[in-house]
Amino acid sequence: MPKKKLYIETYGCQMNFSDSEIVVSIMNDGGYEVTTKAAEADVIFVNTCSIREKAEQRVWKRLKELKSHKKHNPDLIIGVLGCMAERLKQQLLEEEKAVDMIVGPDAYRKLPELISNTEHGQKAINVILSTDETYAELSPVRYDSNGVTAFISIMRGCENFCAYCVVPFVRGKERSRDPQSISSEAHELFEQGYREVTLLGQNVNSYHWENNGSMVNFATLLKQVALLNPRLRVRFATSHPKDLSDELLEVMAGHDNICKAIHLPVQSGSNRILERMNRSYTREWYLDRIAAIRKYMPDCAISTDIIAGFCTETEEDHRESISIMEEVAYDYAFMFKYSERPNTIAEKKYKDDVPENTKSQRLQEIIELQQRLSLESNQRDLGKTFEVLVECPSKKSIHHLSGRNSQNKVIVFPKGNNKPGDYVNVKVLDCTSATLIGEAE
Ligand code: 5AD
Ligand code: SF4
Repeated sequence: MPKKKLYIETYGCQMNFSDSEIVVSIMNDGGYEVTTKAAEADVIFVNTCSIREKAEQRVWKRLKELKSHKKHNPDLIIGVLGCMAERLKQQLLEEEKAVDMIVGPDAYRKLPELISNTEHGQKAINVILSTDETYAELSPVRYDSNGVTAFISIMRGCENFCAYCVVPFVRGKERSRDPQSISSEAHELFEQGYREVTLLGQNVNSYHWENNGSMVNFATLLKQVALLNPRLRVRFATSHPKDLSDELLEVMAGHDNICKAIHLPVQSGSNRILERMNRSYTREWYLDRIAAIRKYMPDCAISTDIIAGFCTETEEDHRESISIMEEVAYDYAFMFKYSERPNTIAEKKYKDDVPENTKSQRLQEIIELQQRLSLESNQRDLGKTFEVLVECPSKKSIHHLSGRNSQNKVIVFPKGNNKPGDYVNVKVLDCTSATLIGEAE
């Protein structure tokens, strides 16, 4: 029997991309293979994101395009997976008639069964959130991989309830995955030639596993994975400042293969706004954590997420965001305009009262500042030599390779005899705000 074909598109965070690899694994077992052509698919899945309104708009638009494939293939099944499926549930079916399946992030094991439920034209829906699903024993299929770097999901869900955020509502309760299954996945990846794993979760540093009286926290887990092989690099994302312990920083500092890069979303530099956001730390507390990172690892890169124009943000609050960015001198940042999300704490309690053009102006200022900070950060690396893990040919030239250093900066350099998966010492000769340019030593 020829296999049926699955076409899958993924939007949103790394966690969603990692989930799509689990979806493909489950679908392989159900007799489907991945195709990169939507036109030849028997099933189309769109794994969606709800974090900002724009993310959802993109998916609505894409669904309109994808449903045209039903014209030449009336049996085509279109499924919406992930966060939008969880948030909108039934409503999605009502608003887009071409959708046949709605499946939330904890119901992927049921996918083959749900597909067979749609065979007689019925709609299938499962958006039940779980308290213990971690897909622990499944082997994700890295169907769109460079063969060098991979994500490993170590926990799911979030219970921080930041006021602006939809994640706790669409991803459910926090739960950690069995550490043994995480280590074996990392070990297998190394055996297959992978040289870097990123441990993923909405809030990785609150990882917590208990079994028969023994306890594994994130610092212990990170150490276990780092000890598997000194030639396997380990990264992690994302951390919440409130859980960034000295114990974790010590473990990072003590292992060369744990990459020296921390993504520590600040969201705002103003204490008044941080409190409204329910972030549970102050500016001072955040800066103390930054000082701790610098103490343990002077060469550690620090990146952040920051939101412009949260409810009631004044010009003065905005100046505090600008000043914290300068003070930390972030190497990299993801920057957003506040987007009100239905049913979040902010939507219920506060008015989205910063005018759109003020949000845009503040975001623009933040982006321009970060461009300068990133450029300055890269300029500080001129003349330094870094160990680079090669990932792929450079996008711009087949004679160059692209990889990253421990600090997560992209470095491009002439190929020589090197190939993806190699560790190469590269001296930095030039840079832009986004890329280091160098030469193998
Ligand atoms: N509006 C704008 N940005 C948001 N983020 C989360 N929720 C919102 C929202 N409602 C940002 C935060 C978070 C990142 C993943 O997305 O900065 O860290
Ligand atoms: Fe988007 Fe958040 Fe869902 Fe990731 S967890 S896909 S960022 S809504």
